[in-house]
Formats: sequence, C-alpha cells, structure tokens
Amino acid sequence: MKNILLIALLFNCLIVVGQNELNIVPMPAEVKMAKGSFPINSNTVIVLEGSGLERSASLLNDYLQQVAGYRLETTKKNSAANSIRLNYERMDNDIAGAYNLSVNNSGVYIAGDNETGVFYGIQTLLQLAEISTYKPLKRSNTLTVPQLTISDHPRFQYRGMHLDVGRHFFPVSFIKKYIDYLAAYKYNVFHWHLTEDQGWRIEIKKYPELTKVGAWRNGTIIGRYPGKGSDNKPYGGFYTQEEIKEVVQYARERYIDVIPEIEMPGHSSAAIAAYPWLSCFPAKPTEIPANMISQKSIDQQKNGRIKLVQETWGVFDDVFCAGKDSTFKFLEDVIDEVTKLFPSKYFHIGGDESPKTHWKKCPACQLRIKNEKLKDEHELQSYFVQRIEKYLNSKGKILIGWDEILEGGLAPNAVVMSWRGEAGGIEAAKQKHQVVMTPGNPVYFDHTQSKNEDSVTIGGYNPIENVYAYEPIPKELSTEEGKYVLGAQANMWAEYQEYPSKVEYMMFPRMTALSEVLWSPKEKRDWKDFERRLPSVFERLDKEKINYSRAYYDLKATVIPTENYDGIRWKIESKLKNARILVFLPGIFWPRGNISKEDSLELTNVKQTTLFPYKEPFLISTQGYYKTRLDDSTNMKDFPLSEIEQKFSLNKATGKKITLTTPPSKTYPGDGAFTLVNGVQNEKGLARSSEFLGFWGQI
Ligand code: ACM
Ligand code: ZN
Repeated sequence: MKNILLIALLFNCLIVVGQNELNIVPMPAEVKMAKGSFPINSNTVIVLEGSGLERSASLLNDYLQQVAGYRLETTKKNSAANSIRLNYERMDNDIAGAYNLSVNNSGVYIAGDNETGVFYGIQTLLQLAEISTYKPLKRSNTLTVPQLTISDHPRFQYRGMHLDVGRHFFPVSFIKKYIDYLAAYKYNVFHWHLTEDQGWRIEIKKYPELTKVGAWRNGTIIGRYPGKGSDNKPYGGFYTQEEIKEVVQYARERYIDVIPEIEMPGHSSAAIAAYPWLSCFPAKPTEIPANMISQKSIDQQKNGRIKLVQETWGVFDDVFCAGKDSTFKFLEDVIDEVTKLFPSKYFHIGGDESPKTHWKKCPACQLRIKNEKLKDEHELQSYFVQRIEKYLNSKGKILIGWDEILEGGLAPNAVVMSWRGEAGGIEAAKQKHQVVMTPGNPVYFDHTQSKNEDSVTIGGYNPIENVYAYEPIPKELSTEEGKYVLGAQANMWAEYQEYPSKVEYMMFPRMTALSEVLWSPKEKRDWKDFERRLPSVFERLDKEKINYSRAYYDLKATVIPTENYDGIRWKIESKLKNARILVFLPGIFWPRGNISKEDSLELTNVKQTTLFPYKEPFLISTQGYYKTRLDDSTNMKDFPLSEIEQKFSLNKATGKKITLTTPPSKTYPGDGAFTLVNGVQNEKGLARSSEFLGFWGQI
C-alpha cells in the first residue's frame, strides 16, 4: 500500500514538473501534461478528418519543411497510428480561433472551431516541437513532442501589430516575414501604415504622381532628431497594387487581417508634394528646417518645385485642405482603389497630429466652417472625418482613427485607436464606440527596451516587463463598457528603423509578451512563468536567425530613496546567473584612466537568481560619477557586457518625500515625483525621457 502511494505521489510530481516546463508562448488556456512523448518523423501522415483543411495541411508541411526538412503525406483515409489528424470541433467561444490539441502514443490530434482554430493548433504544435524541452534530435529527423492535451482559445478578438513603412520602406519579402512573426504568436491583425509625410507607399492608378513623386525624398536627417544635417541620399519605394494583393493574400492564408492606413488630414506632405492642390496653400513652399534640408530640395524649390516630400520627422502644418471639395473627391478616389485591394472590414484614416494652423488662415476652410455652421477648426476636423466615414460606410467599411478623431465629436460608427495614453479609449468606450488600445506607454515598440540604450530610439522606456504587465481593459471602465475594447496593438513607427533587422530588434522579444496579454486568459498571466519561458523564446529566435534585443539581460540600475528619506541608494540588478557586479566610485576609484579589478568594490556574487540579493542597495554618499558593470569573469555567452555610468548631484532635497500638485503627462511620467529629487539630472534629452517628468500645458 505504501509503495502504491509513493508511486502515485511520484507520478503526480512528474506531471507537475512537466507542466512547469512547457515553453509555449502565448500560454494556452488549459494544459494537461501526460507522460511520454510522440515522435513526428517523415513517415508520419497528416489525416484530413475535417473537410476543406487542405490549406492547413499544406501550411503545416511548409513549416515542417523549414524546421525538419521534410513534408508529410496528406490523406483523407482514417489512420490512427503515426498521424497528425486535423479536424473541427464545435466550441463555445465568441472569438474565432479556439482549438483542442492532444498528443498521445499514436499521434497528434488538432481540432479547431474553424480553420483559424486548426491554424493556431498547428502553431502550438510547432512550438511544442521547436522550443519545448523535447528538442528535435536533428534536422531532417524526428521532432519529438510531449504527450498532453491542450484546450485553448483567444481572449481578445483584435490582436494587432502595426508597421510604419512611410518613414522607412520595407520590401515585400520582409513584410511577409513580419506576417509570419505575427502568425507564430497568434496575432490576427496587421495594421499597415502606408502613407506619411516622408513617403506615399501605395500605388494609386488614378493618381500616378503619388508614387512617382510622393514615394521619394531627396534626403533624410542624420541621427536623432533634429539630427546632424541631411544625408543628401535619395530614398524611397512603394508597393504596386499587385504586390499589395500578394501581401494581403499571404496574410489571409495565415488568418491575418490587413488593415490599410491612409493618413488624413495630417501627415500628408508626400501626397501634397505629388498634388499641391490638396494643400490649403498650393503656392506656399514646403517648410523643411534649414539644417535638415538636402541640397537637391533647395535646388528644386529654387527651380519652382516648391512642394516636397519631408526629409525630417515631426508634425507639419501643410495638411489636406478641408474646404475644397476636390480634396474629398481625391480621397474618395483613393478609397475606391484601396478598398478593392483590402478585404478587411476596417479602414484606418489616421486622423492624428493634424495642426489647424493652415485651416485657420485658409479662406476655403473658413467658408466650410461658416456654411456647415461649425464652431471651430476642431469641428472642421470632425466634419472631415464624418464625411469620410459616410463614404467608407457606403462601401461597407468601418472607419478606424487615432484618438484625435474624438475632437469636435466622434463619427457615428468609428472605432477609436487610443494612442495618447488610455484616455481616448476610455472616453470612446463610454460613448459606446469600439476601441483598440495602443497607448504609447507601454506598447509603442519604437520606444527603448533598455535604459542602457545602444541604438537610436524615440519616446520613453517600454521594457518587456511593462509590456507583459499591460492590461488592455482599463479599470476605469465598467464590465459592460469594457466589452467595447476589441483588443490592443503594438505600434512600430519607423523613424529610426532603417532596416528589417532593426524592426526585428525592436519587435522581439516584446511582441511575444504582448501576445500573451492578447491571447491568454487574464488569470493565466504570470510574469515569473513567462520569464522562465523567455530563454526558450530566445533560443527559437536564434534558431530562426531573427534579430532581437537582449535588454532583458541588461544590468539594471535604479535610484531609490533611503529608508528615512534622507538620501538615495543605487540599486543594481542582473538577471544573469552568477553575475558579479562591480561598482566604481567617483573620485576615489573613477574616473582616472584604466580601472583595474582592485580599484573596484565588489558588491556581491549573484547566484541563480533574477534579483540582486543584497539587502541594502548602494548608498550614494558623495556626488560625482559612478559606474557599474559586470565583472569580466561573469558568464555572458552572447550577451554584450553592459556598463552604466551615472552622475549623482546631491542637495538638501535629495531623497526627500515629495508630492506633486499637478500630475505629469502620461507620456513622460519619469519615475513619479521622486524623479525630481533622485539626484539624477537628465543629460541625454529625449533619449532618456525616463529621467524627467513632462507636463502638458500649464504647471
Ligand atoms: C501616432 O503615434 N501619432 C498615432
Ligand atoms: Zn483649406
């Protein structure tokens, strides 16, 4: 009896251990591990039990070709042994994509609530084969998957990633890769930002100048805005309508909806360069600041081509004229062509960052305000969006816009994309409008992932921890209002993403964290468990030769007040096993030429832990430059040795308790009120915006 009990206990233990080791992202809703594994080999057959699953089988074979080097025979004959069976099962889930997956001795069974569900089951199977602890033995050989049963379904219906191809252009081959990345982590929306001040990227047959002129700029600023002048290099590119169709089809086959964005009324310099009559002031030269303009543009403006594609980043006054009917005719023609290319029911019209400067001075815009009995230019913006919405609705499309479309009154059926924090989304949901949450903090993936930034980025600090902790349904909403939140999206603005590898770097691993926010049940979200799975995510990215940020392993230094609020301490953490952390003190040891190990004060020897175990973070008792880094002997493998320098300036307020009478902007929240008394002065401007507080309007 005792023996039986012991065996039973042992068996339970094995199951628990197995579950803990499952390395799937996003984590499925329910997983039950069993004992043993099943080997997929080149003799395994794919059995189509459900009808119309040929495409799913073919995709599975495409993936197997990539990871194992072979394709499997596909049959409709029932075969229980050594098979991957694909089928349908009815599941009670409002959102498409639910599936059941089981693996036993004889094979794999995947049943989706529809084809989408089968597809997600296949994605899970691939991860089981690729990044579970059950590794493929060899390429062209066996893929071993653990025996288990999974019952899974998505939490949100909108699981999006955006890509700006206006600031920098990416070829179709990369767009397809991007779609593959989305599919692998169960995203279902690709928001394609196709037009910008710096380039119009989609062929419109009726207006050929849009791509002949609008897709090209004469130069680009060098470095971070305001930059170090123009690189004077012509830059551009666009997608033909055939290419767009190819991408949309590619995405469709991976159950991804492609939402096009055609920006209006702002961010329209490229369209205006192509057709100057779209501007309120066609005879007014495009303003490009003197230190940012290319020589070619200077010459062109001298020779009479006065409207230019922008060469620097920002928000520009020259926007579509809302007074002239010809503007609307143009946009309707563009919409006619674009809607034919994109089957999505959504159409994104931008609507953000559109200055009213020109509208205020433009006779046509002012006449429109008068005739339409509008209060001001904000209501003119609302008129603009509502007029476009009517047209889109007549074509069976739903308008999506950035949260500025709330200005002056929301168009009746519009969906709001909340980017300036969550306020726009909250307001829209309360007005019973559908909402996609995409707040700058934390889901703008053009922001840095690292405080020890190693490449040019923009905006604030959005580390993977913050992305993972993001909850798309704001607590300000009631349960009923929360239902208007369709989901969330990460935005990938490309001012500083010149190449596909940089996009990958900014995207990974953060998008894997967001995938879990969007897919997994809320109660399944567990940062510690995600951290446990992260190394296997990295391993998979390595295997697939995808570039990604190692910022997760960065040395992290934070300033905290002392217990008595009479000073500050420097808290230094490393997630690397056996990290040996050194701190170099000002004056005494550093800076003064070469630093030897003897010059340093060794704080600790961190073992197998993700947190720095010392009880007392380092007390900063004198001001000056400090430095911290890992000891050279730390086992870093592929990770670059991160090093942090910090100047501390002490005064009587340093570390004291502080409260703010005016809250800072959500975009620049720093580290709360303490930011003002933490002894750190911002020396790198916007590149380190986490070091200051930003305020909107009056303080
Ligand atoms: C935006 O980031 N301007 C929507
Ligand atoms: Zn105008």
